[in-house]
Amino acid sequence: MSNKIQSIRGMNDLLPESSPLWQFVEEVMRRTLKEYGYQEMRMPLVEKTELFKRSIGEVTDIVEKEMYTFEDRNGDSLTLRPEGTAGCVRAVIENGLLRGQPQRLWYMGPMFRHERPQRGRYRQFHQIGVEVFGLEGPDVDAELIAISARIWRELGIGGVTLQINSLGSVHSREQYREQLVTYLNGHHDQLDEDSRRRLQSNPLRILDSKNSDMAELIRQAPLLEDALDDSDRAHFERLKALLEIMGIEYEINPRLVRGLDYYGRTVFEWVTDMLGAQGTICAGGRYDGLVEQIGGKSTPAVGFAIGLERLVELMEEQSIPFEQQQPDAYLVIAGEGMVEAGFSVAEKLRDGIPGLRLITNLDGGSFKAQFRRADRSGARFALVLGEDELSSGTLTVKDLSGEREQQTIPLDDVAEMLSRYN
Ligand code: HAM
Repeated sequence: MSNKIQSIRGMNDLLPESSPLWQFVEEVMRRTLKEYGYQEMRMPLVEKTELFKRSIGEVTDIVEKEMYTFEDRNGDSLTLRPEGTAGCVRAVIENGLLRGQPQRLWYMGPMFRHERPQRGRYRQFHQIGVEVFGLEGPDVDAELIAISARIWRELGIGGVTLQINSLGSVHSREQYREQLVTYLNGHHDQLDEDSRRRLQSNPLRILDSKNSDMAELIRQAPLLEDALDDSDRAHFERLKALLEIMGIEYEINPRLVRGLDYYGRTVFEWVTDMLGAQGTICAGGRYDGLVEQIGGKSTPAVGFAIGLERLVELMEEQSIPFEQQQPDAYLVIAGEGMVEAGFSVAEKLRDGIPGLRLITNLDGGSFKAQFRRADRSGARFALVLGEDELSSGTLTVKDLSGEREQQTIPLDDVAEMLSRYN
């Protein structure tokens, strides 16, 4: 008995039955981003490990525990990208895109994290990421949130809540960090092992702890909000005002700190309670220091990424209708020696009817067998080509739903007939 080779845990196949929904989601996003003047970027799936260490942060879950890192044949340490922002920043610097005007960019594709797989959490998952470079004010933060809100509307999704917070600039965060460390040091005995380790390296992440024993300690911790300086505050106030003008509801979540180190000022997440524990479908924020950190000239930047698996699951959960991709017609070939004629008729139909979804019977089979295949294909109509039809330039059209009588019509009328039933 031969052993079947299985897929890697947490890495999924996208099956034909699900691809129409994915394509619908991707199309809505592409269209919306184009309408706002954003351009697509495509970056490699693999980057130097150093890039992620320097941008996401050495003491984050992603870099410490979740990266797929390997040595290539030259002995260089490479990593499958766990997210897109770092690679996008590397690419815009390297290709000189930061000279001159602002850049509004997006990308789509797989990301890799060695997390414990569960519903909504995979080891290969897909993001649509959006990044803007060169705009400092809160207006662009507001625009990005508006884009995400529009995407939910266009997709017909409900039940998602916007949470926002401000992490302050580097300077105010430093001050806050000191306050927080003093407070947490005063309660050192209540910290779990992870938090003790983070106390030196990344104390803000302790606020993000899911350990319920520490919930009270965290609740009473000093608030980052109180440490914001005047310009941070003005940035955040303006963002809130713009969201209100656009009628986008939000909640302020003072505990929202995000799991990647590069953020400052605005951070936000769209969350739902319909997906169990993994309820964040979209997350992002400002990262004004990152370009410089990776070797570019200081450039403000802000962005977000949508988790496509979670979004698609939410749409399924909400039974959101989308365009199915059933074929319109199935061409049945009747009679000996008609296969070649079938090819030319099929191509002629495709030339004349843009968008026609036509399946041609291939590999022969009896008339009955062909009809069985036509039925199984999900096509609405069978188009029958026999010798009579060929000589008279017609096709016999059979409605496979059984609603209408079979009829023989000129080839040129097929387009009009199909369109009547679409
Ligand atoms: P992130 O919060 O790590 O941010 O990921 C963004 C989204 O990707 C999450 O909200 C979630 O929907 C999805 N996601 C993350 N991990 C998984 C997983 N293991 N399985 C399924 N879905 C997942 C970033 O990646 C930032 N680069 C976002 C960003 C762009 N910030 C600024 N620009």
